[in-house]
Amino acid sequence: MCIVTHYNKYYRKLLLLQILMPIHFFARDIFPALIRPINNVPAYATFGLPDSKHYICAMNAKTPKESHTIMNELVLPNDTNTLNNLMGGRLLHWMDIAAAIAAQKHCNRIVVTASVDNVSFKHSIKLGDVVTIEAKVSRAFNTSVEVRLDVWAENIPSGTRIKSNEAYYTFVALDHNNHTVPVPELIPESIEDMVLFEGALRRRQLRLILAGKMKPDDATELKALFFGEEEGK
Ligand SMILES: CC(C)(COP(=O)(O)OP(=O)(O)OC[C@H]1O[C@@H](n2cnc3c(N)ncnc32)[C@H](O)[C@@H]1OP(=O)(O)O)[C@@H](O)C(=O)NCCC(=O)NCCS
Repeated sequence: MCIVTHYNKYYRKLLLLQILMPIHFFARDIFPALIRPINNVPAYATFGLPDSKHYICAMNAKTPKESHTIMNELVLPNDTNTLNNLMGGRLLHWMDIAAAIAAQKHCNRIVVTASVDNVSFKHSIKLGDVVTIEAKVSRAFNTSVEVRLDVWAENIPSGTRIKSNEAYYTFVALDHNNHTVPVPELIPESIEDMVLFEGALRRRQLRLILAGKMKPDDATELKALFFGEEEGK
Protein backbone atom coordinates (compact mmCIF):
# COMPACT_ATOMS: atom_id res chain seq x y z
CA MET A 1 0.00 0.00 0.00
CA CYS A 2 2.78 2.35 1.03
CA ILE A 3 4.70 1.55 -2.14
CA VAL A 4 1.60 2.22 -4.28
CA THR A 5 1.05 5.63 -2.62
CA HIS A 6 4.69 6.56 -3.13
CA TYR A 7 4.50 5.43 -6.78
CA ASN A 8 1.35 7.50 -7.39
CA LYS A 9 2.84 10.65 -5.81
CA TYR A 10 5.97 10.21 -7.90
CA TYR A 11 4.05 9.92 -11.15
CA ARG A 12 1.76 12.83 -10.26
CA LYS A 13 4.89 14.99 -10.01
CA LEU A 14 6.14 13.70 -13.37
CA LEU A 15 2.74 14.40 -14.96
CA LEU A 16 2.76 17.96 -13.63
CA LEU A 17 6.22 18.52 -15.10
CA GLN A 18 5.02 17.15 -18.43
CA ILE A 19 2.16 19.68 -18.47
CA LEU A 20 4.31 22.67 -17.44
CA MET A 21 7.20 22.00 -19.79
CA PRO A 22 5.44 22.57 -23.14
CA ILE A 23 3.98 25.84 -21.77
CA HIS A 24 7.47 27.07 -20.88
CA PHE A 25 8.97 26.13 -24.25
CA PHE A 26 5.97 27.50 -26.16
CA ALA A 27 6.50 30.85 -24.40
CA ARG A 28 10.24 30.70 -25.01
CA ASP A 29 9.79 30.12 -28.74
CA ILE A 30 6.94 32.59 -29.27
CA PHE A 31 8.38 35.46 -27.21
CA PRO A 32 12.14 34.97 -27.56
CA ALA A 33 12.91 38.68 -27.28
CA LEU A 34 11.28 38.78 -23.88
CA ILE A 35 12.98 35.83 -22.33
CA ARG A 36 16.36 35.38 -24.01
CA PRO A 37 19.14 37.26 -22.26
CA ILE A 38 21.17 39.83 -24.16
CA ASN A 39 24.73 40.06 -22.75
CA ASN A 40 23.45 38.11 -19.75
CA VAL A 41 20.83 40.78 -18.99
CA PRO A 42 17.32 39.38 -19.48
CA ALA A 43 15.31 41.69 -21.71
CA TYR A 44 12.36 41.72 -19.31
CA ALA A 45 14.58 43.27 -16.61
CA THR A 46 14.60 46.49 -18.64
CA PHE A 47 10.77 46.54 -18.49
CA GLY A 48 10.88 46.89 -14.73
CA LEU A 49 9.78 43.34 -14.01
CA PRO A 50 11.00 41.69 -10.77
CA ASP A 51 14.68 40.90 -11.14
CA SER A 52 14.88 38.04 -8.65
CA LYS A 53 17.58 35.40 -9.06
CA HIS A 54 14.97 32.66 -9.26
CA TYR A 55 13.02 34.41 -12.00
CA ILE A 56 16.15 34.94 -14.11
CA CYS A 57 17.07 31.25 -13.71
CA ALA A 58 13.57 30.12 -14.65
CA MET A 59 13.49 32.25 -17.76
CA ASN A 60 16.90 30.99 -18.92
CA ALA A 61 15.94 27.38 -18.25
CA LYS A 62 17.38 24.70 -20.49
CA THR A 63 16.56 21.11 -21.33
CA PRO A 64 18.91 18.11 -20.92
CA LYS A 65 19.03 17.92 -24.73
CA GLU A 66 20.81 21.28 -24.84
CA SER A 67 23.75 19.94 -22.85
CA HIS A 68 23.83 16.48 -24.46
CA THR A 69 27.43 15.61 -25.33
CA ILE A 70 28.84 12.53 -27.09
CA MET A 71 32.56 11.84 -26.98
CA ASN A 72 34.39 8.99 -28.74
CA GLU A 73 37.88 7.69 -27.94
CA LEU A 74 39.89 4.82 -29.45
CA VAL A 75 41.75 2.77 -26.80
CA LEU A 76 45.42 2.88 -27.81
CA PRO A 77 48.42 1.08 -26.20
CA ASN A 78 49.27 4.13 -24.10
CA ASP A 79 45.78 4.00 -22.47
CA THR A 80 46.06 0.40 -21.25
CA ASN A 81 47.49 -1.59 -18.34
CA THR A 82 49.66 -4.70 -18.61
CA LEU A 83 46.54 -6.81 -19.33
CA ASN A 84 45.77 -4.66 -22.39
CA ASN A 85 42.68 -3.26 -20.67
CA LEU A 86 41.82 0.44 -20.54
CA MET A 87 43.14 1.98 -17.30
CA GLY A 88 40.39 3.14 -14.94
CA GLY A 89 42.07 6.50 -14.40
CA ARG A 90 42.17 7.21 -18.13
CA LEU A 91 38.44 6.47 -18.42
CA LEU A 92 37.67 8.76 -15.45
CA HIS A 93 39.69 11.50 -17.17
CA TRP A 94 37.71 11.13 -20.41
CA MET A 95 34.45 11.07 -18.45
CA ASP A 96 35.47 14.25 -16.61
CA ILE A 97 36.05 16.01 -19.94
CA ALA A 98 32.73 14.87 -21.47
CA ALA A 99 30.86 15.85 -18.29
CA ALA A 100 32.60 19.26 -18.10
CA ILE A 101 31.59 19.99 -21.72
CA ALA A 102 27.95 19.13 -20.90
CA ALA A 103 28.05 21.29 -17.74
CA GLN A 104 29.55 24.22 -19.66
CA LYS A 105 26.89 23.93 -22.38
CA HIS A 106 24.23 24.22 -19.67
CA CYS A 107 25.87 26.97 -17.62
CA ASN A 108 27.66 28.97 -20.37
CA ARG A 109 30.33 29.43 -17.72
CA ILE A 110 33.65 28.06 -16.56
CA VAL A 111 32.88 25.01 -14.42
CA VAL A 112 34.98 22.99 -11.97
CA THR A 113 34.49 19.41 -10.87
CA ALA A 114 33.15 19.41 -7.31
CA SER A 115 32.62 15.68 -6.93
CA VAL A 116 32.52 12.32 -8.68
CA ASP A 117 30.05 9.75 -7.39
CA ASN A 118 31.16 6.17 -6.97
CA VAL A 119 32.04 4.67 -10.37
CA SER A 120 32.10 0.91 -10.74
CA PHE A 121 33.80 -0.80 -13.65
CA LYS A 122 31.42 -3.57 -14.73
CA HIS A 123 33.42 -4.85 -17.71
CA SER A 124 36.99 -4.33 -18.82
CA ILE A 125 37.47 -2.32 -21.99
CA LYS A 126 40.02 -3.77 -24.38
CA LEU A 127 42.83 -2.32 -26.45
CA GLY A 128 41.34 -1.31 -29.83
CA ASP A 129 37.80 -0.80 -28.49
CA VAL A 130 35.96 2.44 -29.20
CA VAL A 131 34.70 4.14 -26.04
CA THR A 132 31.58 6.27 -26.34
CA ILE A 133 30.73 8.58 -23.47
CA GLU A 134 27.35 10.31 -23.35
CA ALA A 135 26.85 13.14 -20.87
CA LYS A 136 23.94 15.46 -20.09
CA VAL A 137 22.88 17.65 -17.19
CA SER A 138 20.36 15.75 -15.08
CA ARG A 139 19.53 18.55 -12.63
CA ALA A 140 20.62 22.09 -11.87
CA PHE A 141 20.71 23.39 -8.30
CA ASN A 142 21.84 26.88 -7.25
CA THR A 143 25.42 27.18 -8.45
CA SER A 144 25.98 23.51 -9.25
CA VAL A 145 24.77 20.97 -11.78
CA GLU A 146 24.66 17.19 -11.71
CA VAL A 147 25.77 15.49 -14.94
CA ARG A 148 24.76 11.93 -15.81
CA LEU A 149 27.23 9.83 -17.80
CA ASP A 150 26.76 6.60 -19.72
CA VAL A 151 29.76 4.77 -21.14
CA TRP A 152 29.79 2.10 -23.87
CA ALA A 153 32.64 0.02 -25.23
CA GLU A 154 32.36 -1.06 -28.85
CA ASN A 155 34.46 -3.62 -30.66
CA ILE A 156 33.95 -2.68 -34.27
CA PRO A 157 35.44 -5.82 -35.94
CA SER A 158 33.22 -8.17 -33.90
CA GLY A 159 30.23 -5.79 -33.87
CA THR A 160 29.76 -5.95 -30.06
CA ARG A 161 28.75 -2.97 -27.93
CA ILE A 162 28.41 -3.18 -24.16
CA LYS A 163 27.47 -0.65 -21.50
CA SER A 164 30.49 -0.45 -19.23
CA ASN A 165 29.79 2.40 -16.79
CA GLU A 166 27.28 4.89 -15.43
CA ALA A 167 28.23 7.80 -13.21
CA TYR A 168 27.26 11.22 -11.88
CA TYR A 169 29.67 14.13 -11.74
CA THR A 170 28.89 17.45 -10.04
CA PHE A 171 30.19 20.75 -11.38
CA VAL A 172 30.12 24.25 -9.91
CA ALA A 173 29.91 27.34 -12.15
CA LEU A 174 32.46 30.08 -11.47
CA ASP A 175 33.01 33.60 -12.72
CA HIS A 176 36.42 34.99 -13.72
CA ASN A 177 37.17 35.81 -10.06
CA ASN A 178 36.53 32.18 -9.04
CA HIS A 179 33.27 33.13 -7.31
CA THR A 180 30.37 30.72 -7.59
CA VAL A 181 27.51 31.93 -9.81
CA PRO A 182 23.87 30.81 -10.22
CA VAL A 183 23.18 28.37 -13.04
CA PRO A 184 20.11 28.17 -15.32
CA GLU A 185 17.34 25.85 -14.21
CA LEU A 186 16.94 22.48 -15.92
CA ILE A 187 13.58 21.42 -17.27
CA PRO A 188 13.40 17.67 -17.95
CA GLU A 189 11.66 16.63 -21.18
CA SER A 190 11.47 12.86 -21.53
CA ILE A 191 10.34 10.34 -18.93
CA GLU A 192 13.99 9.26 -18.58
CA ASP A 193 15.01 12.90 -17.95
CA MET A 194 12.30 13.18 -15.30
CA VAL A 195 13.38 10.03 -13.50
CA LEU A 196 16.98 11.33 -13.38
CA PHE A 197 15.73 14.76 -12.26
CA GLU A 198 13.66 13.28 -9.43
CA GLY A 199 16.52 11.13 -8.12
CA ALA A 200 19.05 13.97 -8.23
CA LEU A 201 17.95 15.54 -4.93
CA ARG A 202 18.61 12.31 -3.05
CA ARG A 203 21.98 11.80 -4.76
CA ARG A 204 22.93 15.40 -3.94
CA GLN A 205 22.05 14.92 -0.28
CA LEU A 206 24.04 11.69 -0.10
CA ARG A 207 27.15 13.23 -1.66
CA LEU A 208 26.94 16.35 0.54
CA ILE A 209 26.64 14.18 3.66
CA LEU A 210 29.67 12.13 2.55
CA ALA A 211 31.59 15.35 1.89
CA GLY A 212 30.71 16.58 5.40
CA LYS A 213 28.70 19.49 3.94
CA MET A 214 25.26 18.42 5.12
CA LYS A 215 23.93 16.97 8.37
CA PRO A 216 22.12 13.64 7.86
CA ASP A 217 19.15 15.15 9.75
CA ASP A 218 18.72 17.77 7.02
CA ALA A 219 18.59 15.19 4.22
CA THR A 220 14.78 15.06 4.05
CA GLU A 221 14.52 13.50 0.56
CA LEU A 222 16.99 10.79 1.46
CA LYS A 223 15.26 10.02 4.75
CA ALA A 224 11.89 9.86 3.00
CA LEU A 225 13.29 7.16 0.72
CA PHE A 226 14.05 4.92 3.68
CA PHE A 227 11.41 5.93 6.24
CA GLY A 228 8.52 7.32 4.10
CA GLU A 229 7.55 10.94 3.41
CA GLU A 230 6.21 11.77 6.91
CA GLU A 231 9.39 10.61 8.66
CA GLY A 232 11.54 12.50 6.16
CA LYS A 233 10.14 15.88 7.27
C1 LIG B 1 33.75 23.19 -5.78
C2 LIG B 1 34.01 24.51 -5.04
C3 LIG B 1 33.89 25.68 -6.03
C4 LIG B 1 32.96 24.65 -3.96
O1 LIG B 1 33.32 25.77 -3.23
P1 LIG B 1 32.70 26.05 -1.78
O2 LIG B 1 33.36 27.20 -1.19
O3 LIG B 1 32.64 24.76 -1.03
O4 LIG B 1 31.30 26.55 -2.22
P2 LIG B 1 29.93 26.39 -1.50
O5 LIG B 1 29.97 25.67 -0.19
O6 LIG B 1 29.32 27.75 -1.56
O7 LIG B 1 29.17 25.44 -2.52
C5 LIG B 1 28.97 25.84 -3.85
C6 LIG B 1 28.26 24.71 -4.54
O8 LIG B 1 29.12 23.60 -4.61
C7 LIG B 1 28.43 22.46 -4.15
N1 LIG B 1 29.40 21.56 -3.56
C8 LIG B 1 30.39 21.88 -2.73
N2 LIG B 1 31.08 20.77 -2.40
C9 LIG B 1 30.49 19.74 -3.05
C10 LIG B 1 30.72 18.34 -3.10
N3 LIG B 1 31.71 17.77 -2.44
N4 LIG B 1 29.90 17.59 -3.87
C11 LIG B 1 28.90 18.14 -4.57
N5 LIG B 1 28.62 19.46 -4.55
C12 LIG B 1 29.41 20.25 -3.79
C13 LIG B 1 27.45 22.99 -3.13
O9 LIG B 1 26.40 22.08 -2.92
C14 LIG B 1 27.02 24.25 -3.80
O10 LIG B 1 26.05 23.95 -4.78
P3 LIG B 1 24.67 24.77 -4.87
O11 LIG B 1 25.02 26.24 -4.91
O12 LIG B 1 24.06 24.33 -6.16
O13 LIG B 1 23.86 24.43 -3.67
C15 LIG B 1 35.44 24.54 -4.38
O14 LIG B 1 35.49 23.56 -3.38
C16 LIG B 1 36.54 24.33 -5.38
O15 LIG B 1 36.93 25.25 -6.09
N6 LIG B 1 37.07 23.10 -5.43
C17 LIG B 1 38.13 22.76 -6.36
C18 LIG B 1 37.53 22.45 -7.73
C19 LIG B 1 38.55 21.85 -8.63
O16 LIG B 1 39.66 22.30 -8.70
N7 LIG B 1 38.14 20.78 -9.33
C20 LIG B 1 39.02 20.01 -10.09
C21 LIG B 1 39.72 19.12 -9.15
S1 LIG B 1 40.36 17.69 -9.78
